[in-house]
Amino acid sequence: MLKIHDLHKSFDSLEVIKGVSLHAKKGDVISILGRSGSGKSTFLRCINFLETPTKGTISLSGEAISVSDNRKGNSEITDKAQVRRLRTRMAMVFQQFNLWSHMTVLDNVTIALKTSLKLSKKEANQRAEKYLAQVNMMDRIRYYPGQLSGGQMQRVAIARALAMEPDILLFDEPTSALDPELVEEVLNVIKDLATQGRTMLVVTHEMAFARDVSNRVIFFDDGIIVEDGAPQEVFNTPKSKQFKQFISKDY
Ligand SMILES: Nc1ncnc2c1ncn2[C@@H]1O[C@H](COP(=O)(O)OP(=O)(O)OP(=O)(O)O)[C@@H](O)[C@H]1O
Ligand SMILES: [Mg+2]
Repeated sequence: MLKIHDLHKSFDSLEVIKGVSLHAKKGDVISILGRSGSGKSTFLRCINFLETPTKGTISLSGEAISVSDNRKGNSEITDKAQVRRLRTRMAMVFQQFNLWSHMTVLDNVTIALKTSLKLSKKEANQRAEKYLAQVNMMDRIRYYPGQLSGGQMQRVAIARALAMEPDILLFDEPTSALDPELVEEVLNVIKDLATQGRTMLVVTHEMAFARDVSNRVIFFDDGIIVEDGAPQEVFNTPKSKQFKQFISKDY
């Protein structure tokens, strides 16, 4: 499904991702853990081409994108149309929801369906309603984001991602901006998606989620993967002293 080979990303002289390879199979739910600043968001943003990697290959369902240096020595993806195509097959859910405040819930979900996927208004509305129902938000489709709770906004953002019917869903700390009492409703939606066999990469600080819902846990430290395995194996017999330290702290 997703193959990443030797991914590097630098911001000027600061190398943030230092050679990461990862193969995700269809249906994998991979939790990505790591300290603040270890490069988790940058990694997800590179996968989705929100950042251009400095070096490496990313392939999704057999279609690969390599990065090469242009004449100025900056990394560049030459085939922009390919990036646009691959982007429609991945969808990202952000910590801060990133909904359009001037658009209703329904319009937030349909906009990309109409502009990127070229669905008709009727098809877009039907598809949006299907996924808004799945996250239990049908009773709010005429509301604006400002009239919703954080948990509701995040569920709309998840519906928007699902409506693209992507091969893979990327979550960047989807519950960390929420009040504690709202975390559960969003985690439950993500748990449902896991049981439906969706392929997901989830950056999270929710240890219970990583342990109980994902089938694989990855721990980032200083731009590389230092721990990678089934949750039981990683939590019960960590190999690295960095991960031992990480889980010994109250997170
Ligand atoms: N656009 C950018 N320009 C320069 N440096 C950046 C940029 N984005 C991220 N960085 C740096 O890259 C490093 C990794 O950041 P990143 O956001 O990937 O960490 P993270 O693991 O997601 O942390 P957190 O858990 O706090 O979200 C940090 O040192 C950060 O300052
Ligand atoms: Mg981050």
